[in-house]
Amino acid sequence: MTIGILGALPEEVEQLREALEDGGRVADVPFELYQGRLEGHPVLIAQCGVGKVNAAMVTQMMVHLGAEAIVFTGVAGAIDPELSVGDLVISTEAVQHDVDATTLGFEVGQIPYESVRCWRADDTLRRLASASAAGFDGVAVVEGRIASGDQFVADPQKVAWLRDAFGAVCAEMEGASVAQVCAKWELPFVIVRSISDTADHGADVDFLEFTPLAAARARQVVLGILRGLEPSSSGC
Ligand code: ADE
Repeated sequence: MTIGILGALPEEVEQLREALEDGGRVADVPFELYQGRLEGHPVLIAQCGVGKVNAAMVTQMMVHLGAEAIVFTGVAGAIDPELSVGDLVISTEAVQHDVDATTLGFEVGQIPYESVRCWRADDTLRRLASASAAGFDGVAVVEGRIASGDQFVADPQKVAWLRDAFGAVCAEMEGASVAQVCAKWELPFVIVRSISDTADHGADVDFLEFTPLAAARARQVVLGILRGLEPSSSGC
């Protein structure tokens, strides 16, 4: 099974790409997209850039190139007050918090005329991710709903709203768009995030300081997912 692995920033995927066996850049695509083998599995790896459109574009490209499951790895701002920098979040679901057609009678986060507003992560990938994440000492691991939007959240009031309106445990800028593409193609996905900041007034400073540590932790979880998958696995 070919696994597509995406991260928005260089530090989220670069070392995975460097670890590729038989790796090479995919030609003629306007993204940093590589193929090869990792932990015995055929993989596609991309740095997709920040935001929902970039992530959706690259996910679609990966589907076109034969990806059969998608894993997103990266950092996030904490919404759950129990989460600290370096803790890990594994998606149960993903929702787009910046979608608002409530005036038309849709729920906040619901894309008009789409049947769901939250996309469910694959249970097998989620369990593998949580098992892999449990290997870190002193790091909290939370399974929960991830809220995505084209906004860097740095405001306690917004944090409270994301918790109340969506039951979100963390905020980031890509995951739910990947989930939406995967749902269209009926492909399994999971989002792995490590906390770089608490999405409050100091979020910008913390993000810059802690992204390298948090991104490395999420990457380790992704490697654990790959190790946990049967080499001959035909589906999740
Ligand atoms: N990614 C990391 N921290 C974030 C934040 N505070 N808001 C949105 N995306 C993030």
